Amino acid sequence: MDIKISPSMLASDFANLEAELKKCETAGAELIHLDVMDGHFVPNITIGAPVIKALKAVCSVPFDVHLMISEPLKYIEDFADAGADIITFHAECSSDVGETIDKILSCGCKAALAVKPGTAIDAVYPYADKLSMVLVMTVEPGFGGQSFMEDMMPKIEKLRAEYPDIDIQVDGGINAETIKTCAKAGANVFVAGSAVFKSENPAATISLLKKNAGNK
Ligand code: DX5
Ligand code: ZN
Repeated sequence: MDIKISPSMLASDFANLEAELKKCETAGAELIHLDVMDGHFVPNITIGAPVIKALKAVCSVPFDVHLMISEPLKYIEDFADAGADIITFHAECSSDVGETIDKILSCGCKAALAVKPGTAIDAVYPYADKLSMVLVMTVEPGFGGQSFMEDMMPKIEKLRAEYPDIDIQVDGGINAETIKTCAKAGANVFVAGSAVFKSENPAATISLLKKNAGNK
């Protein structure tokens, strides 16, 4: 499986988003992770489609948009028009999961389904054929900078055994050490916010993450 690093802009300097994106681009990040929160599905509010559209105009790295919102189906077109390449939404949302996946695909984006720590991985199985990626959350969604939950690894192992070819993403508390644990369990797409942007040299950190994901 290809290793992909997806820096989460949530931990970047919001006053200098274009410069922060360039750091990721230069360092060879395969994806850019954009966290959308509605203050309802999770207790926090972040950015929406207009900001993503503006960023898309200044960045050539594919956008990995993580929707932590209650009714994703209502907003799929907006995020597709804004330039999302992958749209991830949660299995625990209020929209119909199958319909939402079909909507993402009909808008020309790749579809991914996320599970919170308390949700069994089997929840994604009925939809796996249409999914490019499954996101196994390694923290409770809502905030950056939380501690990695190692007890999520069995979910990744189980999913990898069931679906050898699907992209498995992890998000939350990923750093140069925890990335090895996740890679060993079978994950191949790694979101990292604080580890990248709170480091002295984000570009060097991205390279180190990539290296460590390969050295499991
Ligand atoms: C949390 C978000 C994450 C967050 C990760 O709900 O989905 O993408 O930015 O931040 P770190 O890497 O700092 O745990
Ligand atoms: Zn995220």
